[in-house]
Amino acid sequence: MEYRSVRGMEDMLPQDAWIWHYIEARARQEFAASGYSEIRTPILEDTAVFVRGIGDTTDIVTKEMFTFTDRKERSLTMRPEGTAPIVRAYIEHALLAIAPISRLYYVGPMFRAERPQKGRFRQFFQIGAEVIGSGSPFADIETIAQISSMMTLFGLKEFKIKLNTLGCRDDKAKFAVSLKNYLEDKRPRLCEDCVSRMDKNVLRVLDCKNPECREIVKDAPNVVDSLCQGCAEHFKKVKDGLNLLGIGFEEAKNLVRGLDYYTATVFELTHSALGGQDALAAGGRYDNLVKDMGGSALGAVGYAIGIERLIIALKAEGIKQTPETVVYIATMGDDAKLEGMRIAREIRVHIGLGNIVVLTDVGETSLKSQLRSADRSKAKIVIMLGDDELKQNKATIKDMGGKEPQVMVEIGSIVKEVVRRLC
Ligand code: HAM
Repeated sequence: MEYRSVRGMEDMLPQDAWIWHYIEARARQEFAASGYSEIRTPILEDTAVFVRGIGDTTDIVTKEMFTFTDRKERSLTMRPEGTAPIVRAYIEHALLAIAPISRLYYVGPMFRAERPQKGRFRQFFQIGAEVIGSGSPFADIETIAQISSMMTLFGLKEFKIKLNTLGCRDDKAKFAVSLKNYLEDKRPRLCEDCVSRMDKNVLRVLDCKNPECREIVKDAPNVVDSLCQGCAEHFKKVKDGLNLLGIGFEEAKNLVRGLDYYTATVFELTHSALGGQDALAAGGRYDNLVKDMGGSALGAVGYAIGIERLIIALKAEGIKQTPETVVYIATMGDDAKLEGMRIAREIRVHIGLGNIVVLTDVGETSLKSQLRSADRSKAKIVIMLGDDELKQNKATIKDMGGKEPQVMVEIGSIVKEVVRRLC
């Protein structure tokens, strides 16, 4: 029997760990510097959290959730996204009492039973942010500015920000009517999915990927013509603010997003390396969600970045791992092996958790094969220690770059010598 990972769910292998750490460390740094606190919610939620939160006609809820009944006949779902659970937790733990505006972030796996392809998985990871408690356009501006600086901190250059508004709930309803009127006589040309979207969630016709549907919606009514004065002003302020901050964006009149909770500002970050699945990150305002889920009437805005897609984009732009500096301790004999481990620990403690790795041999191999391992791990310094040297309380230090001559030093001065050579 050959075991394989579940379709659409991938292993993160050791050779790729560095880029995950690189991304997460920078994200946490940027969030901390912007006053965000981390929130962790469980993988499983009551299914109702998502049905209510995301919307019962959305693709996610109707087709893509991993839902099962537990032993007590409760319907549970593996979270397909982070916003609805965070709003659930925000209300459950009365976070409003702690601060009028909460800036929250999260990092973790999400689950959607989509058809797997490049950049699309059934388990994927998101880095997300939610600002709950402000209906102001300044919260939108700050959020978009923040995701943009985060991308820069990751070293990503070729991304685009697409921006649109959906207006408030009333505007959305008004727009849905005018869109439906426009589409009515084109129904026979629409794809099967869009025909059913016409009756359930007509806005989604706008982001259908089918070429014929795309052609049809090119001349569809523009959402800005359905906006009330408040929403029109909100959108203008967001655009003016981004322009003033020098954050480039493109207005995308057909950007609607696949989750029902959005109102007003919506945005997406795209990257050409992603092909068909080109959304690297996406988000928007969801001013009704907290109230709809049983909390106070609070404005909120947020986004989520797909980590796997970010990795594809970063690799396409040529990101490389910063090489580690390796110190290899080659030992011969049992006593020397243990002394080697002690020295390794001393160097690690002294140097701290930098980009320096101290390796020892645990394979009981010959000196020759240990030196080969040192070479393979591109060690800069090799410390050689046998039981005979140990009796004299000495070890040999070899500079693999050949810059300094090989020397014998007292064991007590090894750490000082390594620090002098590396730092
Ligand atoms: P979303 O657009 O569904 O929004 O997902 C955000 C990002 O997650 C996408 O842009 C993409 O990078 C990544 N993603 C989504 N599905 C997959 C998949 N099957 N495989 C790989 N990556 C994927 C949300 O989830 C909202 N909760 C974002 C948000 C937060 N809005 C407000 N606050």
